[in-house]
Amino acid sequence: MKHHVKDGALAPQGKLRIEWAERQMPVLTLIKERFTAERPLEGKNIGACLHVTTETANLMRTLKAGGANVALCASNPLSTQDDVAASLVADYGIPTFAIKGEDNDTYYSHIDSVLDTHPTVTMDDGADLISTLHSKRTDQASEVLGGTEETTTGVIRLRSMAEQGVLLFPVVAVNDANTKHLFDNRYGTGQSTIDGILRATNILLAGTRFVVSGYGWCGRGVAGKARGMGANVIVIEVDPLRALEAVMDGYEVMTAVEAAHVADVWVTVTGDLHAIGAEVFQYMKDGVILANSGHFDVEIDIPALEKTAAERKEVREFVEEFTLEDGRRIHVLAAGRLVNLSAAEGHPASVMDMSFANQALAAEHIFKQDTKMKKQVYPVPPDIDKEIARLKLASMDITIDSLSDEQRKYLSSWEMGT
Ligand code: ADE
Repeated sequence: MKHHVKDGALAPQGKLRIEWAERQMPVLTLIKERFTAERPLEGKNIGACLHVTTETANLMRTLKAGGANVALCASNPLSTQDDVAASLVADYGIPTFAIKGEDNDTYYSHIDSVLDTHPTVTMDDGADLISTLHSKRTDQASEVLGGTEETTTGVIRLRSMAEQGVLLFPVVAVNDANTKHLFDNRYGTGQSTIDGILRATNILLAGTRFVVSGYGWCGRGVAGKARGMGANVIVIEVDPLRALEAVMDGYEVMTAVEAAHVADVWVTVTGDLHAIGAEVFQYMKDGVILANSGHFDVEIDIPALEKTAAERKEVREFVEEFTLEDGRRIHVLAAGRLVNLSAAEGHPASVMDMSFANQALAAEHIFKQDTKMKKQVYPVPPDIDKEIARLKLASMDITIDSLSDEQRKYLSSWEMGT
């Protein structure tokens, strides 16, 4: 079996951690049990480009239990957990191509290794697998029934491909399922971003001025958790509706230049270029900490910072210090890559349980549809989304009420008023 991981000897530790995560993934475990009995993915090739974590390992095991031949590479050069990659190969027989800290060439050679397995379904987090297939290996597109996409940034890329008429097969936007973005993006990114910042720096958040750029679901999550730790949270947002929401949620809202004067910690979650751009470094306080939790490492303009800095050095694992000419120090965490997956372990298993339940069921859905889907971006079918919420509640031993016939009738009528 082909593979490329850092060190096979790390497998026993990886296996223990994968099993630990599985205990927090009851919905995925139920799906795995059904897949084991029904084998709905028998003989199908699935190529996955996801963060190689304990949670992803459990998704890979689920797909394999369903009969699929899966191959996995990393969706970010810094997010791989090397012990997990080793265990996937040694303990679960899953071809895995991922090494934490791999350079760009290795990253793309690993994507090529997955594409060499000729997937019929692709599974992406950020759309690098699909975009490589669409740019360098278009001859393989006709072999693909469909793909799935895990994250907001990937869905945006795929929608733009669909709009430009260049998308060569259908894709299911897992990110857009309610049981994905309302929980993973908000509670997952919220908690794991704080976790990454704290593991990298060991600072006290209470009393800091903590800036969040972007008030989408991830930004809302990060802001909420930082406030929960006692930080004074400032939100930067370009969309007036979201900015207004941040104001009414009780945050200070200001421009990036205004925030630069006061920020102690600054996190970007915008999904866009240069949320912290060249124009703001000059206003920053000595000692400020900058981190990114958006998908790509483009949100902090590190090349511009490097240009203005007199010195650049690593002062702690995952902490680089840039010293400006006047002596002020600006700290960038995890080279501006996803801080939650680089300096910590990503979202906790309990929330990835729902995200990856969506992935597993979306893959099954694509195979069931066979060639019926068009070259479009599709939502996860709402019945799958609801069922995942129902199963998650059941796993938490929570029962909810249901509507009476009278109430249901009222909701579908219009005659009754005052
Ligand atoms: N994205 C964010 N957190 C993750 C995790 N723990 N595993 C896989 N993908 C993730």
